[in-house]
Amino acid sequence: MTDQQEQQASVPPKGVRRPAPSPKWIATDLYTLSHLDPSTAHNSDILKSTLSNASNQDLPAIYSSRAFAKFLALQARATDAKHCLEVGTLGAYASIWLATENPNLKITTLEYNSHHVQVAKENISNADLGDRITVHEGPAMETLPTILSDIDAGKLPKFDMAYVDADKTNNWNYFDAAVKGCRKGAVVIVDNVVQGGLIASQDKPLDKPGHVEGAREVIENTGKDGRVSATVIQTVGEGSHDGFLFAVVL
Ligand SMILES: C[S@@+](CC[C@H](N)C(=O)[O-])C[C@H]1O[C@@H](n2cnc3c(N)ncnc32)[C@H](O)[C@@H]1O
Repeated sequence: MTDQQEQQASVPPKGVRRPAPSPKWIATDLYTLSHLDPSTAHNSDILKSTLSNASNQDLPAIYSSRAFAKFLALQARATDAKHCLEVGTLGAYASIWLATENPNLKITTLEYNSHHVQVAKENISNADLGDRITVHEGPAMETLPTILSDIDAGKLPKFDMAYVDADKTNNWNYFDAAVKGCRKGAVVIVDNVVQGGLIASQDKPLDKPGHVEGAREVIENTGKDGRVSATVIQTVGEGSHDGFLFAVVL
């Protein structure tokens, strides 16, 4: 060890907060979305009312960003997905994005908070999507085994896509279950795995306990998992510096 390395090793890790989004990132989102997702888009009104109903009923504003939710929906479209799993429904914003961009897509989405389930169901009904989006209420670790059994029994089709966006400490468990329910060639996406770059830092986050550890666990285990090939894409935008893990089932 050099003198400099010894000095660094003896410095305790700093407690840090995630950086706030830069005004330039927000302005860039606004500029690109104004062209690529204008208010005249076919699903714009229903998505706006989904968010306002969620906000009026005090749901936290932790849904996927507009640009990222549209990316998910386009990903489903590019792969002609017919059945998608979502872990973490909230008010069904991402589910409604997926369904409104993909008329042949069914979504199985999991949520444990009964108030979130009630608001999600209202939003799904307002969007007239009750026949294609099914919300399963309960902790996802309890609802997933039944869903996987239904897939094994042929009662539900395998997933063509899965989106993991719930309690971050269970990222790996959800990823593992999602892969079990997916067909070969399916895509599994796990949100928020970069955590402002804290995954690659010794510094200790002062908020969101377990999120950095949950992100590292899913990245490290996925790297050793012969069932998939994966990468992480960092993102900036209205949601600050974060990123997602993107895996293809082999
Ligand atoms: C980030 S939000 C999901 C946002 C949603 N995917 C979207 O983009 O619109 C995370 C959701 O996961 C739910 N959640 C947290 N822990 C859970 C668990 N153990 N089982 C199921 N849902 C859970 C939370 O209640 C919250 O509604």
